[in-house]
Amino acid sequence: MPSALVSGVSRGLGAHLCRALKAAGHRVLGVGLAAAPRHDDVDDYRMVDLREPLPDDLFAGEDVDVLVNNAGVYLDDPRGGYGDLFALTVDDLRETFEVNVFGAARLVLRYAPRMLARGAGRIVCVSSGMGRLQDADGASFAYRSSKLAANSLTLSVARHFAAGAGDLAAFSYCPGWIRTDMGTPYAPDEPGPAADDLVRLLSLPAARSNGRFFRGLDELGWDTRGPFVSE
Ligand SMILES: NC(=O)c1ccc[n+]([C@@H]2O[C@H](COP(=O)([O-])OP(=O)(O)OC[C@H]3O[C@@H](n4cnc5c(N)ncnc54)[C@H](OP(=O)(O)O)[C@@H]3O)[C@@H](O)[C@H]2O)c1
Repeated sequence: MPSALVSGVSRGLGAHLCRALKAAGHRVLGVGLAAAPRHDDVDDYRMVDLREPLPDDLFAGEDVDVLVNNAGVYLDDPRGGYGDLFALTVDDLRETFEVNVFGAARLVLRYAPRMLARGAGRIVCVSSGMGRLQDADGASFAYRSSKLAANSLTLSVARHFAAGAGDLAAFSYCPGWIRTDMGTPYAPDEPGPAADDLVRLLSLPAARSNGRFFRGLDELGWDTRGPFVSE
């Protein structure tokens, strides 16, 4: 049975990813801040704060076939009353990067080399269209730049995976605006279908997903606009 390690599983998109991965036949390994997940779709759960170094023995002995970097924070969210760029504190910028970039990188650095050695695996970065340079505005710099960096991590892994032999793919995935704690109750879409779509993408041939950025089942693309010009 293939195993899938998902970060941030207790609620939101992560909880739905566990359900969808389990339904697709995966053994689900989960990490998160909560003492325990709020559902039964995780086979093995460890409380891990992704702002800290990973425990040396995290899922030791497990072959992780799929890694989904889902955990994330959006501290400088204007919908929660946060101001624009000039209201941002360096502490919030640092904490955003600790979770959204360093936490994701810690898991990638731990598990991607093992996938390369085995010649099989999938790594997914749950990102956001807000991480595209073309979508930047004057607010949410911490969140946007962290997702931009996470996308860059995806592309770096994808380069290694493309050069490796076997069934290897790394891609970024935007779930769209979904109703979760982060997405707020005003989001138009439920997280369940977004989780189902991500799991469908895992079964694409590697050459059709490696190095790509999807929203739902469609390719979103990294950036399409040319130079920023104000008229
Ligand atoms: N919601 C949207 O509209 C939307 C849109 C685009 C992209 N996204 C992305 O989708 C992903 C999931 O978001 P969501 O909407 O499901 O958010 P959410 O409901 O706020 O859940 C965030 C998850 O991240 C985990 N997490 C936060 N800090 C952590 C830390 N220090 N260590 C370990 N885990 C930590 C939380 O764990 P605990 O539950 O254990 O606290 C939680 O499971 C994020 O990467 C987000 O950026 C969301």
